[in-house]
Amino acid sequence: MSNRTLIRGGLVITAAEETYADVLIEDGRIAALAASGSEAARAWTAERVIDATDKYVIPGGVDAHTHMEFPFGGTASSDTFETGTRAAAWGGTTTIVDFAVQSVGRSLREGLDAYHAKTDGTCAIDYAFHMIVSDVDESSLKEMDGLVGEGVTSFKLFTAYPGVFYSDDGKILRAMQKAATNGALIMMHAENGIAIDVLVQQALARGDTDPRHHGEVRRALLEAEATHRVIQLARVAEAPLYVVHVSAEEAVAELAAARDKGLPVFGETCPQYLFLSTDNLAEPDFEGAKYVCSTPLRPREHQAALWRGLRTDDLQVVSTDHCPFCFTGQKELGRGDFSKIPNGLPGVENRMDLLHQAVVDGRITRRRWIEIACAAPARMFGFYGKKGTIAPGADADVVIYDPAAEQTMSAATHHMNVDYSAYEGKRVRGQVETVLSRGELVLERREFRGRAGHGAFVPRGLTQYVN
Ligand code: URP
Ligand code: ZN
Ligand code: ZN
Repeated sequence: MSNRTLIRGGLVITAAEETYADVLIEDGRIAALAASGSEAARAWTAERVIDATDKYVIPGGVDAHTHMEFPFGGTASSDTFETGTRAAAWGGTTTIVDFAVQSVGRSLREGLDAYHAKTDGTCAIDYAFHMIVSDVDESSLKEMDGLVGEGVTSFKLFTAYPGVFYSDDGKILRAMQKAATNGALIMMHAENGIAIDVLVQQALARGDTDPRHHGEVRRALLEAEATHRVIQLARVAEAPLYVVHVSAEEAVAELAAARDKGLPVFGETCPQYLFLSTDNLAEPDFEGAKYVCSTPLRPREHQAALWRGLRTDDLQVVSTDHCPFCFTGQKELGRGDFSKIPNGLPGVENRMDLLHQAVVDGRITRRRWIEIACAAPARMFGFYGKKGTIAPGADADVVIYDPAAEQTMSAATHHMNVDYSAYEGKRVRGQVETVLSRGELVLERREFRGRAGHGAFVPRGLTQYVN
């Protein structure tokens, strides 16, 4: 017997259009849409009817950059896959793409299997994996082909973090050459980590140990230089490229210049770069540690270039890079030495709301909101159609969003497993009301109805951004 849900009377917003439509869900998928009040829509019946009058009906958010239980700086990010995916659902995100990690000296297989073991039976929403490649050699290059066949079709490498995740230019080139043959997408963390480490040592030797120095040594020019370099390496390899967590105006300019040449080069930014700045890093009493991430927060003048990049499509995706560490006991590891502060910010629960606030503020349109937060990440990473839209055949990952609700972001009310909010006290208009994942209620009028283990692994195809 089929299981039907009907969402009546809302404004359905996708990246392509906005229309008052009723949405029929059957067996976990979108079965049909019909104009609200039309004869076709009135004829539909369902076991569950959701009234979405005065609400938006939007695709579930796709956060293509999260780090749950991520090992970093001698500790691990504080959200498990269970707590992090629950918090994501509260914030209207129904799919995350997290990062499985290859440790140096280990195979990609071992790294990926460990992440499957962590996620199996724990997630409230669907999830996929990118693979962090820390050790490029003959055998890991060969393994990349196999992972692509298993639906892990994107690989992150780093020009930052020497001695941890860092790859030199030759290794990056070899991974890109492999991607050019198997269709994978290489994601780059672009900062000149070798030069940054010199500046870190010089700063510490001067006694510049406070969190704000994290932002000062990770210079915008060193993000731009690395961005330029990885673009040229991708050109040589004839591979597409996705640059993660872009924060500097000069890095956006590198991406824009490459795209003006017609190169398949793509960029992501994150809410923290759009809404926060070095002012936060400079907060007294070590509070700035809450805002330590890499690439770092920039002076607020950089924000205009990021918003412009999102409007002109020089930046395609907004992900969170959600990588939370508690202030107490984790961020505090770096008291007296900013280089020991674990890098990362919480945000998986806040992204859809912050970007909706950008709609309210007139920075982006409603459809661009859905494009950068749902459709483009799904298309970039090869699963658009299943996720990222509301159309017949798509998974019924649907959010009923109240655009008129007002909320104040706070650690006291959020669901992420972290003891502070990066947006404490920020008032925004709009709030998630109800969330469906593959037709099942995860959140119902702000009551959690989900369960660990509902979320399933999503094998992905190749990026849909290049032929
Ligand atoms: O500060 C950050 N971004 N932490 C997570 C690791 C990374 O580089 O994405
Ligand atoms: Zn990174
Ligand atoms: Zn990251």
